[in-house]
Amino acid sequence: MTRFAGKSVAIVGGGSGIGRAVAEAVAAEDADVILSSRNQEKLAIAAAGIPDARVIAVDMTDAESVGDWAAALPEIDHLVISASSAAHGPFAELAEEQLRAMFDAKFFGPYRTAKAALPKLRDGGSITFFSGVLSRRPGMNCSGLGAVNGAVESLTYGLALELGPKLRVNCVSPGMIRSDAYAGMPAEKRETMYAATGESLPVGRVGTVEEAAGAALHLMSNGYTTGLVLDVDGGHMIRQYATR
Ligand SMILES: NC(=O)c1ccc[n+]([C@@H]2O[C@H](COP(=O)([O-])OP(=O)(O)OC[C@H]3O[C@@H](n4cnc5c(N)ncnc54)[C@H](OP(=O)(O)O)[C@@H]3O)[C@@H](O)[C@H]2O)c1
Repeated sequence: MTRFAGKSVAIVGGGSGIGRAVAEAVAAEDADVILSSRNQEKLAIAAAGIPDARVIAVDMTDAESVGDWAAALPEIDHLVISASSAAHGPFAELAEEQLRAMFDAKFFGPYRTAKAALPKLRDGGSITFFSGVLSRRPGMNCSGLGAVNGAVESLTYGLALELGPKLRVNCVSPGMIRSDAYAGMPAEKRETMYAATGESLPVGRVGTVEEAAGAALHLMSNGYTTGLVLDVDGGHMIRQYATR
């Protein structure tokens, strides 16, 4: 018996990266999958690998688009929101507009998407948000992104209380994961970054999208788990400041 037989799972951010890996993993456990993000081409490629996957495009930063998405959404058991965008920069230099855009994409986007999906979520279902290690283990020039992640985690705690017992609400907090998020970087620089981060971690490497997705599947399927921020970070929270 698989964990997701007879369940419907909507993944916002399902066009690539960790969201796509979540979609593939729940589909392998017999879930019906609804994939959402902005780029139709990426969604079509992701959906092609998943039998009977449905696609509903959405831009979480656009309230009208989220309303249309929610209207088109069938009843679901689980909502996973991995979509986000991030910006880095020194506190003294990062423009307030950039921070506001980040909050719009990574906090208000998931906030309004979860709210819009509420009428479609069945009793006993769940919502899974994504934050990131920077909320509690800051990095240089990442104070803005850390603050957004902290807001997502705080929202998780509040909604777990408010929406229970009908729904459980949890959050995956990844450390560095090899994903499409870094596709825009020059390959050599990206590999150097992965190697340096991996070396600083107790597990000695950065993570995979499948490992991050596994944390989301655990949160969705464990009925006694709510209000939890689950770190899947290779030990980032306890790593040494200097490399080993
Ligand atoms: N990868 C890491 O190292 C890492 C570390 C810490 C935290 N995280 C967090 O983990 C989550 C997943 O990351 P990832 O690595 O899978 O990122 P990713 O590969 O960049 O995937 C993000 C997805 O979100 C979609 N998206 C972005 N903005 C959107 C919007 N406004 N509306 C709808 N969809 C939108 C993108 O597709 P479109 O462009 O087509 O919309 C894409 O499919 C994110 O919250 C990220 O911040 C990741």
